[in-house]
Parts: sequence; structure tokens; C-alpha cells
Amino acid sequence: MRSEGPVGTVAEVELEALESEAAGAISGAATTSELDEARVRYLGRKSRLKQALRGVRDREGGLALNALRGRLEEALEERSRQLERAELERALGADALDVTLPGSAPPRGTLHPITQVRREVEDAFLGLGYEVRYDREVETTEYNFDKLAFPPWHPARSPRDSFFLDHEVVLRTETSPSQIHALEEREPPIYMVSIGRCYRRDAIDATHYPIFHQFEGLAVDRGLTLADLKGTLLHVMRALYGEERRVRFRTHYFPFTEPSMEPDVSCGICDGAGCTTCRQSGWLEMGGSGMVDPAVLANVGVDADEWSGFAFGCGLERVAQLRHNLPDIRLLWENDLRVLRQF
Ligand code: DAH
Repeated sequence: MRSEGPVGTVAEVELEALESEAAGAISGAATTSELDEARVRYLGRKSRLKQALRGVRDREGGLALNALRGRLEEALEERSRQLERAELERALGADALDVTLPGSAPPRGTLHPITQVRREVEDAFLGLGYEVRYDREVETTEYNFDKLAFPPWHPARSPRDSFFLDHEVVLRTETSPSQIHALEEREPPIYMVSIGRCYRRDAIDATHYPIFHQFEGLAVDRGLTLADLKGTLLHVMRALYGEERRVRFRTHYFPFTEPSMEPDVSCGICDGAGCTTCRQSGWLEMGGSGMVDPAVLANVGVDADEWSGFAFGCGLERVAQLRHNLPDIRLLWENDLRVLRQF
């Protein structure tokens, strides 16, 4: 781009001298005001460069002068950024706290899937007018077994199945003792759901863990029937799994209900047709339920001729597993962030 011979009114040698002088002034400017002076001197209206541009006579000279102007403007910009940054840093150093700077956002966690499911269960029952309660995890055998009408030979009373602290104190094996606490605290009608940790001496595998969570519902009122139990479970299962779910009962045995049933919910993957998730049955087991045994009501001084009730218990891990298609329950306890971040 440089041409031989004179360029405009400024010879090539002069151009080079001008460029190195201007570049020196720009890079040597120690403050923004010194830089402004250099800008006026080398690029201002009366600068040698502008005068030369005004006197340009040929294309080549014009190109060379414009290129020089471009380089000097760029150098000015760059130096101006450097000085501004340095000045900001000096100011920050002087007044260490600048409350006007944007903060750095801390990383945001998510609620553990069990906590999320617990809150959904609570919402479903609060919508039905139930009270939510949390009871103690260390129980006496009286509340964990006796008042729930467990027979003396029941295997859960054995230290092989349950964690005993001494022979009358046990880590609760289910949330059912909450039924007794609720019934002893006040008179029916009672509509409550109790949620929390339970403990059993289970060997750890894909579906068992010695600590787990249950929710336990209890309703005691005048004239409650199995139909109320089924309607309540249907409402809750639909709240947790979706409106198209169905519920069925299979007869079973529990010490504190008569009759006792295990509720199943229709499989959401095959809609009841049968698939690997439901082992071709079309149904998923949900826990236990039944009509409160009159013997339990008698244990807490409630007149079984006047009052009747229903109860049910389900595992929160099971709900979380089905909701999120978790292949292994241990994922809920290992606290691996790569897993937990997905929920
Ligand atoms: N407590 C039972 C268990 O852990 C589940 C259960 C069954 C709870 C029947 C109930 C019920 O409230 O009525 O296996």
C-alpha cells in the first residue's frame, strides 16, 4: 500500500516518522486525559494527518493516509481500554467494596427426589383436608407393636427383623404408630397423614434399604366404609401418577386392620396391558391398607360402635422410583450429584 515518491503533501519518510511519533505518544499516555491530548494532536482537525488528507491528490496517497488513520484510531481505542481498566482497578483497590458491581450467583441446588415426592403427597392430602404430622422415629414396642394389635409371635418383633435399642425401644419399623399417637391426642373425627423415616434390618439391594420413608394415612369418623378408603387412594394415586390411573385391592393380612388389603395402581407404562415394569400383570403394588381393626380403637379408648376408620401406608421410595423410572433404590441414598441434578 505504501507508494514510491511523494504522497499528498507528506512524503513517505515523513509518514513513517509521524506514525512512530503518534504511536509513541499513544502508548506513552499514562492517563485518559493524556490520551485525549494525543488524540487531538494526531487525529484532531488541525493535526498534520488531517491536513495531509485534505491535501490528497492521488488515490495511492489517500489510501496510505487512511490506512495510517485507521491504525492510529485502533491504537487509541486499545490504549483507552487499557487505561480505563487500570483506573477501575485502582478505584476498586481504594474502596474494596463496590456494592454496585453485579454479584456472583451461587450455584442452585434442587430438592432431593424424596423431598419432592413427600411434598406432593402432602399437597394431595392437604387438598382433602387432612392434617400432616411427623412423629418420633425411636418408638417403644408398646406403640410400634402392642397398641397396633401385633400378636406376640409377629416376626417384626424380632431383633432379626428390627433395630432394637433395648428390649422395649425400637427404631420404628413403619409409620403406623402415628395412628396411635393421633388417636390418643384427640377425639375423632380424625383425618391425618404421617410421613417420615422407618427402619428395618433389610439387606441392601436394588429394592431394599434399611432406612426408608413411608406415608401413613388414617381417617376415623362416623360411617366410614371401604368405599371411602378406595376413593381416597384413587384420588391420591391420580394426584401422584396421573388422572388415568385405576386402583384395585388384593386381600392381605395386617395386624391392625380388618379387613386388610394391598392396593395396586394400574401400570402407567402399559396402561394395564402388561409389560416388564409391572411384570406382565398390568398392576403395581402400592403398600398396605384396610379398615381400622376395632381392637386398635379399643386400645385407645375409641368406641368402635360409634366410630369406624380406614388406614393405609405406602413407601416414598417406591413412589419416587416409579415417578422417575429409577432402576435401583440405592441411587436415592448415594447422594451422587450426577444423579440428583437430574430432578
Ligand atoms: N405398616 C404396613 C407396612 O409397613 C403398611 C400398612 C398396612 C399401613 C395397612 C396401614 C395399613 O396403615 O392399614 O407394611
